[in-house]
Amino acid sequence: MIADYQRLCQNHVDAALQQLLQAPSTELERLYQAMRYSVMNGGKRVRPLLVFASCQALGGNIKQAYGAACAVELIHAYSLVHDDLPAMDDDALRRGQPTTHIAFDEAYAILAGDALQCLAFDALADETLSPVSLEQRLDMVKILAKASGAAGMVGGQAIDLSSVGKTIDQQTLELMHRHKTGALIQASVQLGAIASGQSTPQTMQHLSEYAQAIGLAFQVQDDILDVISDTQTLGKQQGSDFEHAKPTYPALLGLEQAKQYAASLNHQAHQALADFDHNADQLRHLADYIVSRRN
Ligand code: IPE
Ligand code: IPE
Ligand code: MG
Ligand code: MG
Ligand code: MG
Repeated sequence: MIADYQRLCQNHVDAALQQLLQAPSTELERLYQAMRYSVMNGGKRVRPLLVFASCQALGGNIKQAYGAACAVELIHAYSLVHDDLPAMDDDALRRGQPTTHIAFDEAYAILAGDALQCLAFDALADETLSPVSLEQRLDMVKILAKASGAAGMVGGQAIDLSSVGKTIDQQTLELMHRHKTGALIQASVQLGAIASGQSTPQTMQHLSEYAQAIGLAFQVQDDILDVISDTQTLGKQQGSDFEHAKPTYPALLGLEQAKQYAASLNHQAHQALADFDHNADQLRHLADYIVSRRN
């Protein structure tokens, strides 16, 4: 059951995150409060789940992947805090609660995001949290840096903002989605594989095909949910994309075609795992979950 697996992984990653988010001095308590507020607030933890599932698909133990799981969730949390800022999507609700800049203020939201980003790399490079060779840790840091920065998530956010109110073609939309959401999802799968200590060029290639498909599917489904879901289920404002004239798959292709596209990406993800045994079942379940989720 994906729900049981999700709970198990959430418990593991939440315990590790909680430890990383303790203020070292009283002067920093408010900053750490804003950081904890942005992370420890009931996210689905899909990216840590992918890290763990990918590690297990190659025969690894999830304890080897704590650093990677924390790191991808910290980058993700930082990206959401900044994504919600007035200068970006200007959203007031996240995970069912006021966004960080509303609960604290804009300056603290910016700083909390900055600090979460640095903490991500700190956790990933940590020998205890990432018990693999120095070389493998360096590879992991490089992968996460690339996926998070201008060649990945930040680049995608830039394309997103510069496309507001414009009609972009499907190629540009796909490029944007692959960067802003796909890159971090792809990195999650890659980091999990490296953390297992048992990745090979061939398994990495298959996992990369799987991750590309579900990474894009994840944002297509996010766009679909903005249309068909409701604010309470989502924990964020439904219809926000439409209101802000965001480029999305339903806006470009229509709702039905967007749904079909998500289903075909799920099919591609399953095909990419054809050579894997039952150890990859959680990855298979996660692909199904990504295109059927309701929040
Ligand atoms: C939302 O991500 C932002 C996107 C990249 C589409 P999630 O749907 O994973 O959000 P949380 O972490 O569960 O809140
Ligand atoms: C966010 O995309 C992607 C990020 C890198 C944060 P969205 O702007 O669609 O995410 P939501 O819908 O606000 O969660
Ligand atoms: Mg956005
Ligand atoms: Mg947004
Ligand atoms: Mg969205």
